[in-house]
Amino acid sequence: MSAGAGTGAPAASRRGILRVMMSSTAERCLRVLHLEDSELDHELTYAQLRRGGLNVAMTRVDSEPGFLRALEQDWDVVLSDYNLPGFSGLVALDLLKASGASIPFLLLSGEIGEDAAVEAMRNGASDYLLKNNMARLVPALLHAVEANETRLAHRAADQELVQSRQRLRELAQHLQTSVEAERAAIAREIHDDVGGSLTALNFDLAWIARHSDSLAVRQRVASALETVAHAIEASQRVMHNLRPAILEQGLVAALQWMSSRFERRTGVACRFRTDCDALALPPGVPLVAYRTAQEALTNITKHAAATQVAIDLTLAAGTLTLEISDNGRGLRSADLQKARSFGIRGLHERAGTVGGWVDLSSHGRGTTLILSVPLDGADALFDPAAGVDILLRDEQSDPSAWGEL
Ligand SMILES: Nc1ncnc2c1ncn2[C@@H]1O[C@H](COP(=O)(O)OP(=O)(O)O)[C@@H](O)[C@H]1O
Ligand SMILES: [Mg+2]
Repeated sequence: MSAGAGTGAPAASRRGILRVMMSSTAERCLRVLHLEDSELDHELTYAQLRRGGLNVAMTRVDSEPGFLRALEQDWDVVLSDYNLPGFSGLVALDLLKASGASIPFLLLSGEIGEDAAVEAMRNGASDYLLKNNMARLVPALLHAVEANETRLAHRAADQELVQSRQRLRELAQHLQTSVEAERAAIAREIHDDVGGSLTALNFDLAWIARHSDSLAVRQRVASALETVAHAIEASQRVMHNLRPAILEQGLVAALQWMSSRFERRTGVACRFRTDCDALALPPGVPLVAYRTAQEALTNITKHAAATQVAIDLTLAAGTLTLEISDNGRGLRSADLQKARSFGIRGLHERAGTVGGWVDLSSHGRGTTLILSVPLDGADALFDPAAGVDILLRDEQSDPSAWGEL
């Protein structure tokens, strides 16, 4: 049941071939499945394709079982008669669609009414041709094959883009998590090594001061003690920036502390409001909220020229919302496209690590940044006895767990 086959190289893979041009399609060996009950019409069609310069490997089938069996193989195009004994082109088209194979389908019939042609096209046929007008066969077939390959290439490129965006998002989130873990580890080392040594030094110097009769020694020791006190203060400041110990007292206390420190340092009025006293927060959420507020306040200091700032923390309908707004100069969407600005981009990724998201709005004057985190059933586990946020984690007693977002 098969007409002569071309001997060229196997047809190129149907995937990812945007670059297939008309000429290369015409040059390669096209695998054509021909649904046709007349051997003579089949031979004529084959001859027409060869005359048109195509290299084809063509197989004829004339029944539904034969067609279904043939669909198990790869084809570049299906050419189908409209009416066959006990079978039809439209049913074949449905079967082809149901198989999930992405193969262009051309109707090639002795006669086909306008209604049938329209229905076929609506059902996904690439084209329809009349057997008495075979001149159009080669261009129509090449066009159908190329359009299909272009569509597949687009689809593959879209999928690749989606995957690559997903990988990028995962990488950015992993980066945020690693940075926090690293910060926690450095803070621990400063606490244990540097802090430990400075405390010991403090004791030793005090001992020397107590046991020395020399005024000069005692004066020198007093000056050394001052330096040590400075170093202790500096290491505590560094530790706090690396891992905000205030979070141990809960997110509410930490935000309260942050807003009053901001007001003291910048002279910009900062009001903190919340209706939450103690709330159960999944691991990572307090730190994400804390870092979000920290970046928003840094941005206000750097860019907003504001005179008033408001921070609101609410828990409603199972979603924790942290809103930081200022009355500054406002923000334009172009500001967020700056190549070297990663603060707000980082906040989006950070929010993603706990299933949340960040919204920014600015209408003329003022900017509002909102972090929303659905708490998935862990909502409103108020514990009035605790008085502070309960960090839901296994190692509640280990503050280094903050590193594990
Ligand atoms: N509160 C704000 N008021 C006005 N402009 C802001 C504010 N926050 C951010 N911006 C603008 O958005 C840009 C991007 O911010 P960000 O991503 O944090 O990067 P960076 O602070 O490093 O520039 C800033 O450069 C600034 O122009
Ligand atoms: Mg910033």
